Amino acid sequence: MKKILVTGGLGYIGSHTVVELQNSGFEVVIIDNLANSSIDVLEGITNITKTPPTFERLDLRVKADVTEFFKEHTNIAGIIHFAASKAVGESVENPLLYYENNLHTLVYLLQECRAHNINNFIFSSSCTVYGEPDNLPITEDAPVKPATSPYGNTKQISEEILKDTCAISNLKSIALRYFNPIGAHKTAEIGELPAGVPQNLVPFITQTAAGVRKELSVFGDDYPTADGSCVRDYIHVVDLAKAHVIALQRLMDNKNETQFEVFNLGTGRGSSVLEVVNSFEKTTGEKLNYKIVDRRPGDVISVYADTKKANEVLGWKATKTMEDALESAWKWEQKIRKKKE
Ligand code: NAD
Ligand code: UD1
Repeated sequence: MKKILVTGGLGYIGSHTVVELQNSGFEVVIIDNLANSSIDVLEGITNITKTPPTFERLDLRVKADVTEFFKEHTNIAGIIHFAASKAVGESVENPLLYYENNLHTLVYLLQECRAHNINNFIFSSSCTVYGEPDNLPITEDAPVKPATSPYGNTKQISEEILKDTCAISNLKSIALRYFNPIGAHKTAEIGELPAGVPQNLVPFITQTAAGVRKELSVFGDDYPTADGSCVRDYIHVVDLAKAHVIALQRLMDNKNETQFEVFNLGTGRGSSVLEVVNSFEKTTGEKLNYKIVDRRPGDVISVYADTKKANEVLGWKATKTMEDALESAWKWEQKIRKKKE
């Protein structure tokens, strides 16, 4: 059994990926400092896979602890690095937190990779690196635009750090540029746990339907899109999780074409905010309270992936629908509400 380290493995995308790794026969060790997750997620994962992953509560910013971890845990065949801070607005207010948490942690991990000859490294990047794209759908060759937030900048710099490290070592790395992950595991054992008021669309929708929020604000209906609201490529988190297992296997089998590769992970389909709202109402039968308000500063108009490279080169394709994702997100929301009662 190959042992894989998953950093941030109790977080939203990490936990779903741990499940897919275990289901594919990998042994998993998780590092998480619980900064944006709960220890209960470990139980959720175990309820699905019937195998508890190894868990180390550790802050990757503490270099000595990272070094100690790799002394204790030998024979790691690959790393999937999710751990990071991810709130765009917070990154504008506290850039140093973002540069420390998203960049120092990557550097420390790569130093250990070099010291212990760990050569397979998957990194969580984001479609935010493309900014407002010149052409749609977005291919991986599209220019990386100047970042509009420290968070976005950390993803760009991280990709550069990986590329530079691959150039001088045996490291092989794949940066996966996620579009908009939504949904939850179909068992409702794991899902997204937004802290405080959700900034992202789908958790705000489910909390509004659950009565936690009074109404959803749709940020703008005067964009140059079919119905005036912004367009995004919403991808089911389980589809996304499966792509990590395929990418890791690609590196372990030495199937990569270059030492550093990037892939878009999306469905290839753009959906507007109002389409998501309608789809939620239709799928769940819940009426959603919403109003149109002003545009949100910093929002790009329209973003969706060209998935040809992921489909043909990586051999991965999103299979789940928007309805699957919204149904699972709603089931998850109801489950966490019940727990809180
Ligand atoms: P998340 O916050 O749910 O998960 C991140 C996990 O990392 C959390 O459990 C957190 O406690 C942990 N963590 C953070 N800093 C740590 C540290 N210093 N040491 C140890 N653990 C630490 O986020 P997510 O949505 O699962 O995102 C995972 C990755 O994907 C992040 O790198 C994020 O930037 C990237 N990403 C996310 C999205 C999205 O929409 N969710 C989109 C694009 C890219
Ligand atoms: C944002 C980040 C992106 C990050 C992603 C996941 C920006 C510019 N981009 O993407 O870097 O990777 O989150 O964390 O911040 N919307 C509403 N009402 C709401 C919430 C959202 O109308 O209450 C709209 C937004 O205007 C947007 C769409 O829904 O058009 C999706 O928003 P969101 O879920 O926040 O994701 P992004 O902005 O695409």
